[in-house]
Amino acid sequence: MAVGTLGGMSTPILVAVAWPYASGSRHLGHLAGAYLPADVFARYQRLAGNDVLMVSGSDVHGTPITVRAEEEGVTAQDIVDRYHGEIVRQWDELGISWDLYTTTGTENHARVTQEMFLEQLRRGHIDRRVSKQLYDPEAERFLPDRYVEGTCPHCGYGEARGDQCDNCGRTLDATDLIDPRSKLSGSTPELRETEHFYYRYSDFNERLAEWLDTREGWRPHVLNFAKSWTTEGLHDRAITRDIEWGIDLPVDDLGPGKRIYVWYDAVIGYLSASKEWAAGTGDPEAWRRWWEGDDARSYYFVGKDNIPFHCLFWPAQLMGAGDLNLPTDVPANQYVTFKGGKASASRGVGLTIEQALDRFEPDAIRFALAAAFPEHADTEVSEDEIARRINEELVATWGNLVNRVLSMVNKNCEGQVPDPGELLGADRAVLDEVDEALRSAAAQLEAVELKAGLRTALAAAQAVNGYLSETEPWKVLKVDEQRGRTILHTALSAVNGVRVLFAPYLPFSTARLAEVLGPIERWERSPIATGAPIPKPTPLFGKVDLDA
Ligand code: MF3
Ligand code: ZN
Repeated sequence: MAVGTLGGMSTPILVAVAWPYASGSRHLGHLAGAYLPADVFARYQRLAGNDVLMVSGSDVHGTPITVRAEEEGVTAQDIVDRYHGEIVRQWDELGISWDLYTTTGTENHARVTQEMFLEQLRRGHIDRRVSKQLYDPEAERFLPDRYVEGTCPHCGYGEARGDQCDNCGRTLDATDLIDPRSKLSGSTPELRETEHFYYRYSDFNERLAEWLDTREGWRPHVLNFAKSWTTEGLHDRAITRDIEWGIDLPVDDLGPGKRIYVWYDAVIGYLSASKEWAAGTGDPEAWRRWWEGDDARSYYFVGKDNIPFHCLFWPAQLMGAGDLNLPTDVPANQYVTFKGGKASASRGVGLTIEQALDRFEPDAIRFALAAAFPEHADTEVSEDEIARRINEELVATWGNLVNRVLSMVNKNCEGQVPDPGELLGADRAVLDEVDEALRSAAAQLEAVELKAGLRTALAAAQAVNGYLSETEPWKVLKVDEQRGRTILHTALSAVNGVRVLFAPYLPFSTARLAEVLGPIERWERSPIATGAPIPKPTPLFGKVDLDA
């Protein structure tokens, strides 16, 4: 077993990432909200020597998919195939390092979901109830979730959906809406009786409150929001729907036309994907290490609209099913707003991932978004701001440093890493500064303060730039060649450490630099070998010109 840099054994770390609906193109807001932070964290943890399992997949059920299909006159499966395909291609282009990215449309996922349902039913946490639900008399159908819109009872927003209000983020029941309208016919729905299975979330209010009290290091906005729900008390909620698209119930007591509710099944995806991954490794029990191990840790990367599902409903589902690990942390992000409007697929605001990939290099997108991760507050980004960060921070601070140092070594040291000679105080100081940055960034990344980790990397690159301005090797080489070579050796060593700091954020340029400096083995500044070849470099990143 590998030994982590902090001296312990390697820890199993589940990086669980929100499952995007395969109902439309994903936006930069989604990328900055969940997927990119998860990838940065996972890449760091691997370098720290831990055993990462990073899973997610496309959420293929629920009314976001069926409403879209009906609008376009195609099948739900057509919509899923189109957007799942697009999303998977983009993960590849963006370098998101999944261990498994699957979908909730697999047989495995249906089986795991049905098993969990049956176990909770056996333990008495699921029961049947008759309730009144909204029904469209013209379309002759019930109107679950997004088939109905109306006014939010909490904030008064006029276009709240039947499952959630986009304005205040509250989770809703369709019957809560004021002045509801059917999305199918525009008519005013009526209430009709229907029978459903309910999950008894209220069974877990006390345990949830106690568990939340034990959470340490959570973001205050996440913990406070979750705790406020347990103070009010969770209500039991229907976990089936009158809909034809979804996972079949494992019992047929309710008759035809009912399926499992998308939010009940989607969160089970974390477990089913872990099992699917394990089966693929040839050791079908391998998932247990992340879900049952006492030393295992789990981090759920989600946007703030998903906080109740991951901090309350999913833990309650786990509590009702047996002894699986509860989340260690849910480092939910706030929203990225794009030039004033929330970057949301459902409201059509902001750049899609595809548009961003047309304009910018993947590492440049990753850099600019990570610099603006909305970890503690809503954060505004614009194309101009993205371009400014790429040019003034990524290219000017890091790209140029690498290029400058590699060029000087190539030109002045016969294309090889020079002999270090004897290090002076200034040389040792800059290397110490890089090593100290590696320690601070490790603490920041452990605490899922990823924006701070990037700032630490930039500051370390600045320090190396400052060292070069002070020592002026291009002048020294002309008067004292060995001193000049010592400076260049030191600068190259420092760059070799700073690249580790950037590695979680910039996988593509990290891989290109590894062709010259060798692969990064762990979270540390490793020694560079005198005599290793340093060819003439090509720039790591290009400047962007939005007007071109
Ligand atoms: N599909 C949901 C959304 O986009 C997120 C689901 S996260 C999950 O908001 F864990 F529930 F799958
Ligand atoms: Zn609202």
